[in-house]
Parts: sequence; structure tokens; C-alpha cells
Amino acid sequence: MSNYHIKHLEEYFQVYRKSVRNPESFWEEVAEEHFLWRKKWDKVLDWDFSKPEIKWFQGAKLNITENCIDRHLHVRGDKTAILFEPNDPKEEAEHITYRQLHERVSKFANVLKEKGIKKGDRVIIYLPMIPELAISVLACARIGAIHSVVFAGFSSTALATRVNDCEAKMVITSDGSYRGSKSIDLKGIVDDALEQCKTVDKVLVAKRINSDISMKEGRDEWLQPLLDAAYGDCVPEVMDAEDPLFILYTSGSTGRPKGMLHTTGGYMVYTAYTFKNVFQYKEEDVYWCTADIGWITGHSYIVYGPLANGATTVMFEGVPSYPDYGRFWEIVEKHKVNQFYTAPTAIRALAKENIDFVTKYNLDSLKVLGTVGEPINEEAWHWYNDHIGMKQSPIVDTWWQTETGGILISPIPFSTPTKPTYATLPLPGIQPVLMDENGNEIKGNPADGRLCIKFPWPSIARTIWGNHQRYKDTYFSAFENKYFTGDGALRDEVGYYRITGRVDDVIIVSGHNLGTAPIEDAVNEHPAVAESAIVGFPHDIKGNALYGYVILKETGEVRNRENLRKEINQQISDKIGPIAKLDKIQFTPGLPKTRSGKIMRRILRKIASNDTGNLGDTSTLLNPEVVEQIMKEVIK
Ligand code: PRX
Repeated sequence: MSNYHIKHLEEYFQVYRKSVRNPESFWEEVAEEHFLWRKKWDKVLDWDFSKPEIKWFQGAKLNITENCIDRHLHVRGDKTAILFEPNDPKEEAEHITYRQLHERVSKFANVLKEKGIKKGDRVIIYLPMIPELAISVLACARIGAIHSVVFAGFSSTALATRVNDCEAKMVITSDGSYRGSKSIDLKGIVDDALEQCKTVDKVLVAKRINSDISMKEGRDEWLQPLLDAAYGDCVPEVMDAEDPLFILYTSGSTGRPKGMLHTTGGYMVYTAYTFKNVFQYKEEDVYWCTADIGWITGHSYIVYGPLANGATTVMFEGVPSYPDYGRFWEIVEKHKVNQFYTAPTAIRALAKENIDFVTKYNLDSLKVLGTVGEPINEEAWHWYNDHIGMKQSPIVDTWWQTETGGILISPIPFSTPTKPTYATLPLPGIQPVLMDENGNEIKGNPADGRLCIKFPWPSIARTIWGNHQRYKDTYFSAFENKYFTGDGALRDEVGYYRITGRVDDVIIVSGHNLGTAPIEDAVNEHPAVAESAIVGFPHDIKGNALYGYVILKETGEVRNRENLRKEINQQISDKIGPIAKLDKIQFTPGLPKTRSGKIMRRILRKIASNDTGNLGDTSTLLNPEVVEQIMKEVIK
């Protein structure tokens, strides 16, 4: 029996039991057999959730790019590592072999060094889904620089916040990006952002859309001539297992985005291990995850996990609706994709289109289907299962988070029987528990509670960059000695988990985590706004959409409501990005508040969701009359 590759249910149970009984020897075996270490660890694990401090494979030395690239060269040097599918289907796809990837990453790494980037420096990557994105990520890892990829849909203010938070020295971007029929001026966004940043002294610019952009003398340089002149080999920096690999920002329910810090050794072992098992990847397979590398899914399951296994990983630049709603399936047919991993929101959007967009393509190559990012509803699950998987390809509903680094709960395809809407069972090494509101573990099945994990796994984030206290407060303070996920979950009779959603003020819109507080801040900055409260409500395609209750300042001035709504959304777009725009905005004279002045979001959520049958006790409110008023004017 191999710990590394689980092939049937009985094996899963055996491996799982072993992983829980003796996690250290379990992970030691996995790490020992399947990776290239310059030096082995002195100790497998050191942990203390009360501090919190977590260290895996202490003392070990490695470079993750040697594991993702170099060690494959003699066995699969001519195999496609990255298969780039451009936005425009008429543009040819690009097959980058492992050998070519080695050369391109090396050249890029040498450019970074030449421009003064050293081990430990932070580099912000703000690029569309073009090969340079994956290559720059790996180039940073090659020299030990800490990459922080910012999704190229974020606004200049959001970008500046991240640059400043990690005090980045460099930004890597492109002239612009293509998204469907639109092109976006990325360099302009970077220029605006950098007006508010002091630490960046270099901007490297990839050419993608050939737009006419301005280059700031002494700061900005075109990437290609530098790459052309660079040497095609770069000795990898030898890193400690616990050296930082990257920072990735994720929304919190309050305050600034949290820069989750992931380190090298444990992250590599866990993402590689879970990629192999959750997707059952075989040597000749073509694997495609439709996420953007700007999110954790792209880091772990487009770049690091697949490449560590020597896989062929597809990188798609475009959107599912361009040139039409058949684009995903056209790509599956064209590249004979075997594993396909996407988000429920994409499935819902495609399911409402004509089924001809699916049936005209041959999807026989598909073996495993995956979903991630939010709960998948029953209807979407069945559509995916019936029309894409033809009831032949198991669906892996994978639950995890930016903070967890890798998938924690998921079926193992062809082993774990699936159940619609259930992420099913914990992967080896993962010890979930459900807690009640009083902090007690709920034993026995079925159960319904707050999802925590009681033992560390190798890819758990180690801290929040620059704010360890916030890391402790957010994840380790709600329940003693446990990592709190922020999610609620059910556990059925056989122990399968179903994630029911966030129990905090994070709202997942189209699979993107959005904190309500930063959006409210953006709304409140509008000169006409006195106060606001934002809640989520169910939406057919996005899963959740945003509903804003806005109190206007009393100035006596009469303003056009529609124009105000547009201005408020523009404000959000500028401060955060278009993904955070409000679907509905209701102007209201007041917000329901407790006597201590806290907004009762529970009531606002119910009103926005049209679920006003049981609003609970409103008599303790400071201003119960406002509830009636809000209900009368609710936007349906
Ligand atoms: O609420 C859970 C939801 O997405 C949150 C994590 O978001 P993020 O850090 O952006 O990472 C998304 C990609 C890993 C979780 O706290 N979530 C993620 N996967 C699932 C899910 N909810 C239900 N089912 C899932 N499979």
C-alpha cells in the first residue's frame, strides 16, 4: 500500500487511520519518498495552536522549483508542463514543455536578480492569465523572493493597499489584458496605485495587448528585452522548509485584507499530495483548473500541485462566455482534458444557457470533475453530473480556503461514493471537528456546528504578514486549541461533511470572498452617504449577491436615486473592484440597531432574502420601528 496514491475506499480508510494515529510518521513517509530535498529535516512537526506556531520539516533544505521543474527534466523534459489557451480561440495555444519552462523560469529569475531582487524581498505580480504569470511566480520561488499575486481584476486602491502592506520592491504587470471582447488597461491601474506607494522601485511590463502605454523613466522596463538578454540557467536558492514562499491576500470580515503567509516545504508536500489523490492524475493526463492564479486555487492547483507531479496543466486566459457559452467545452474537446476543476458559479451560469453549447462537443476525455469556492447547490451538481460528466465522471466537491493552502475535505474519485452538495470526507492528515456555540465539540452523527480543525496539516498558513496577533485572534481564539475556519457545516449519519457557508461577515459572491466592512467603508466615503450596511442574499448564478442599505446625509438637497446608485457602485469599483458592486441598493432613513449600537445584520439579511416570516425578537432593538419601514421599501 502506498500512502501517496490512494486507489480505493478501503485504502483511504487505512491511510486515513494511519495519518491520524501518527501524523508525523505519515507525513514523513510522504515527504521522504516523493520529493527532492537538499537536506532532510531534523524534526517533522512542532506546533502550538495557543501561540500559534506551526513548523513542518524544520531544518530541511529545498527549492520548490527544483521539485516542480528540474527533477522532471530527465524523465519528462519534452512533456507539456503548461498548456496556454489564449482568450481568442483563433490565437494558437502554446505548449510549454518542462525543458522550456526551466529555461523561461531561469531567465526570469536572472532578470529579477539583475534588478536587485533578493531572497525574502516581496514582489507583487499583477498579471492576466498569460504564461508570464506562472513563470514569474516560479521565478520568485527560484530565487527565494516572496511572491504576492494580486488578481488583475482588483482596483488600483486595492492593489496599492497590498503593495504597501507587504512593502513590495517590485511590481510585475503587463500593458493590458484581454477578457472576452474587452481589453483592460492594467498598466494604467498600476501607475495609479503606485502614486500611493513608496517601496516599489521597479516595474517590469510584459507585452500582451500592444497598447500605447506610458513608461516611467528609471522605474518601468519592458520585460521581453530583459528576458532575451538573460542567461537560461539559474541555480536555485536553497531554502529552509519554513522560509516564506508567498503571501496571498484574502478578505477578512473587518479591516484590511489579510496577507496569508505560506511557507515552502509543507506547502509543497501537501499541495502535491492532494493534487495526486483528489484528481487521480495519471502521467498522460491533461488537467485543467479554470481558476485565476490570482486566487489560492490557482497557486495550489494550477501551478505548484500539478507541476510537482509532473502534470500537464492548462492555463486559460479567457472567460466561459467568449466567444460563446461553449468555450469551456470547446477547450475540453480540443485539448482532450481529463480532469476539469471549476467553481459552482460558472456551472450555474453555463447551465442556464442552451444545452447545444455542451452537446456539440465531445467530452469523452473527461474522467474527474471538480468544484471549489462555495457550496454547490443540488441543481448545479446534477447538471454538472448529467451533462458534463455523463454520470461517468465523479464530482469532487473540494472544500478548503486560502488559509489552508490545499484541499482539506473532498471525495477521492473512484473511491469515495459522492453525495450531491457534500464535500464528504477529510483527506488524510485532516482532523475536522464540529463545535457548538459554547465551545464544546459535538460528538456523534448527525451534527451541525462550526467547523474547526484540531491538528495541523503541512500547508496551513503560518501567519498573517506583519500581524501575528490578528492571525491568532481570527483563527485560534474562538475555540481553544483549534483552527476555526469561519464556516458552518453539517455532518451526516455516515460522517460526510456538508459546508453550509460562512458564519461571519464574509460573503462569497461568484466564488470570491468579500468582507462586508471594506465595502461599507467604500460606500461611506461617498459624500452623500451617512451610513451603510451590506448583507448577502441568495442569487441564482452568483450564489450570493450584495444588498446595500444606505442612509443618506440630510442636506435638504434632492438627488436622483438612480444616479446615486451608479455613483456608489462606481465608488466600490474604484476602491475594491467591480466584483464587489452591489446588486441592490435601498435608501433607508435608519438601520436596526441593538442598544449597544450594533447593526442587526441578521434582520437585514432576512429582509434582503425575502425571508421575513420569522424575524425573531425585534423588541430589544433601539429602533424597532425602522424594521417595518425597511420591509415596506425592500427592493425585490
Ligand atoms: O466558505 C468556504 C468557501 O470558500 C471559503 C474560502 O474562500 P477562499 O479563501 O477564497 O478560497 C476559495 C478556494 C479554496 C471557505 O471558507 N468554500 C470553499 N470551497 C467550498 C466552500 N464552501 C462550500 N463548499 C466548498 N467546496
